[in-house]
Amino acid sequence: MNWKNDLTQILKISYPIIQGPFGGGYSSISLSAAVTNLGGMGSFGAHHLSHDEILTLDNQLKTNCKGTYAINLWVKNDNYKDFSNQDFEKTKAIFKPYFEELNIPVPDKPVLTEGHSFDNQLEAILKTKPPVFSFVFGVPDESIIKECKKRGILTLGTATTVEEAVLLEDAKVDAIVATGFEAGGHRVAFEDEPENNLIGNISLIPRVVDAVKTPVIAAGGIADGRGIAAAMVLGAKGVQIGTAFLACQESNASIAHKKVLFSQKAEKTVLTKSFTGRLARGTDSTLARETLQDASKLAPYPIQGQFMRSLRNAALQNNRLELISFWCGQSAPLIKSKTAKGFFTALKMETESVFNEMADIA
Ligand SMILES: Cc1cc2nc3c(=O)[nH]c(=O)nc-3n(C[C@H](O)[C@H](O)[C@H](O)COP(=O)(O)O)c2cc1C
Repeated sequence: MNWKNDLTQILKISYPIIQGPFGGGYSSISLSAAVTNLGGMGSFGAHHLSHDEILTLDNQLKTNCKGTYAINLWVKNDNYKDFSNQDFEKTKAIFKPYFEELNIPVPDKPVLTEGHSFDNQLEAILKTKPPVFSFVFGVPDESIIKECKKRGILTLGTATTVEEAVLLEDAKVDAIVATGFEAGGHRVAFEDEPENNLIGNISLIPRVVDAVKTPVIAAGGIADGRGIAAAMVLGAKGVQIGTAFLACQESNASIAHKKVLFSQKAEKTVLTKSFTGRLARGTDSTLARETLQDASKLAPYPIQGQFMRSLRNAALQNNRLELISFWCGQSAPLIKSKTAKGFFTALKMETESVFNEMADIA
């Protein structure tokens, strides 16, 4: 099977298989490097890092990756600035019973600083020049994409709808990740509320492929070679896999999280805003379900996430896993491999065997 196409050419990789970035501390150098060094593209989620931390990170990635890798950021978000103390009291009231149940104080409204602002993070990206800058939750200004091009940094934007994909193409990104609602982690919509466009990949991929000329990468629900083959038949030039790489020993997810991904708990997932203020897919939890109807009273990202941090930690320490939603995509029950190398090798063999079987039928 010939894996080469315009995406592999643009990214200078042997296989169009991308390890999805994980923000919030779930990425690791060893996972990103393993995937890049196997001929795919590793990514590192850096939205929680400061300017200087991104410079150090890129230095480590440059040392460990013998090929193309991406650093990923979340595009600027100022929504939280209008959230009043009065509104925060309403949020507090919803979650008070859970904090009390765990015998921990209900935190005050988090004080946010500009230290980790998108502008500061971008300055680090432009300075350190990773091979690829990938981003979600928006389209950076035209001048930023131009500046990346000037410095030889490829750009990769993410769309949850056809409309968002067209905006990314207009901004002249090098490739577009189209992410279906099967995906684990946040629903990264930026043109509308995410819950208004919960599109599955069997619709989203061909619709995006028809609407843009830029190479499309399918993300969401892919955990084996059948998923890769299906995405390519639908017109994607590559795939981005998250949950199944998160389950590998090289990722920075906790042991408890990895255990959950291989357990019955991964059979059922929910979309919830309760843990971060932004819609995200994780394992079913009583807290997520009981607070589903309170979505409009939650604090916006990142306030909600910081507010919930001590609750998540206490629930983990006390083994009250029903109070936590572990980030997890809908295809987690398909995961078998526990190492990046084992998984990557299986993906190649399975995809090739699907296409060989199809050729036999034809
Ligand atoms: C724990 C976790 C954190 C994630 N963080 C990010 C992120 O910061 N930026 C991003 O572009 N995608 C992020 N994603 C999405 C993945 O990179 C990938 O696109 C997605 O998981 C693909 O769907 P799948 O989980 O069904 O494989 C995250 C996913 C998970 C599970």
